[in-house]
Amino acid sequence: MRVLGIETSCDETGAAIYDSEKGLLAHTLYSQVDMHAEYGGVVPELASRDHIRKIIPLVHAVITQAELTSADIDGVAYTVGPGLAGALLVGATVGRSLAFAWNVPALGVHHMEGHLLAPMLEPDPPEFPFVALLVSGGHTQLIKVTSMGNYEILGESLDDAVGEAFDKTAKMLGLGYPGGAALAKLAEQGNPERFHFPRPMVDRPGLDFSFSGLKTFAVNTAAAHELDEQTRADIACAFQIAVVETLIIKCRRALRLTGLKRLVVAGGVGANRMLREHLAEAMGKEGAIVYFPRHEFCTDNGAMIAYVGCQRLLAGEQSDLAVRVFPRWDLEDYSLRNPT
Ligand code: KG4
Ligand code: ZN
Repeated sequence: MRVLGIETSCDETGAAIYDSEKGLLAHTLYSQVDMHAEYGGVVPELASRDHIRKIIPLVHAVITQAELTSADIDGVAYTVGPGLAGALLVGATVGRSLAFAWNVPALGVHHMEGHLLAPMLEPDPPEFPFVALLVSGGHTQLIKVTSMGNYEILGESLDDAVGEAFDKTAKMLGLGYPGGAALAKLAEQGNPERFHFPRPMVDRPGLDFSFSGLKTFAVNTAAAHELDEQTRADIACAFQIAVVETLIIKCRRALRLTGLKRLVVAGGVGANRMLREHLAEAMGKEGAIVYFPRHEFCTDNGAMIAYVGCQRLLAGEQSDLAVRVFPRWDLEDYSLRNPT
């Protein structure tokens, strides 16, 4: 089965084609990040309008890239939540309509399930069950994944998501928006000995996170010093180390608690090099293997939506003709709202 996947939940327009036999055939992405950068964050109305401009050309592009025609597409999957309502509506309307026009089944997909299963696109994918660390701009969660669709949240952030904390700290350091990757780059020039940031909530039992205090600590440290280039790098470095060590402590705890030996890292912050290296090393000492999607599939993309869509369509699920989106949608409530 060949499935076209469409992703428009936030500020990236993605399209991809996944084949149940041959794997990923084509994928393409357009990022609106430059357009939103001048406003210091995503402007929802601009995002929706830009998705409208880009989505059809991107669908054409992946079909051409895969050397197919629309007659070769057996199903269409599109993100229906969580995300920005207007942005989701673009992908859902286009995806549902294409499926209707092509007379193939359609399926609304959960964006976070896409992130969670993105490592399945790699040559050596993890087997179920595993623990997933989902670290994106809007989510920080540890999830026990028993099988596809069977998700138990073990812990999550009580305030800011990790990506959000990265972005806010980056903004404060004058690195623009979204600044996660820029902060990580600046941190490479930093002296890890100069500042010591707290590791939030590691003394408390459980698997919840809190990152807003860390961000405030960074703001206070910046306010107390002359912000020359080296000091900015030192703050970025201390912040990144504190985040990475906190995530490592909680991941270790989650593996011990569940007795599982496989950890999947997903979401935009999963692109962070220090996190990838240190987590792989620390979990290796636990006898566990860490699975990461390749960099481009850590952040939003159409490939993960095409993959999830293909698996679920093969299992016989499909959406009816209505175009529905779910801007707020917990992964644990999958079955409650999954449009059939
Ligand atoms: O998963 P994603 O593309 O979007 C959401 O669904 O939220 O994640 C975006 C987040 C942003 O906060 C961005 O700053 C962060 O991922 N990010 C990074 C890196 N690359 C992206 N954070 C830290 N280090 C990076 N290398
Ligand atoms: Zn995302």
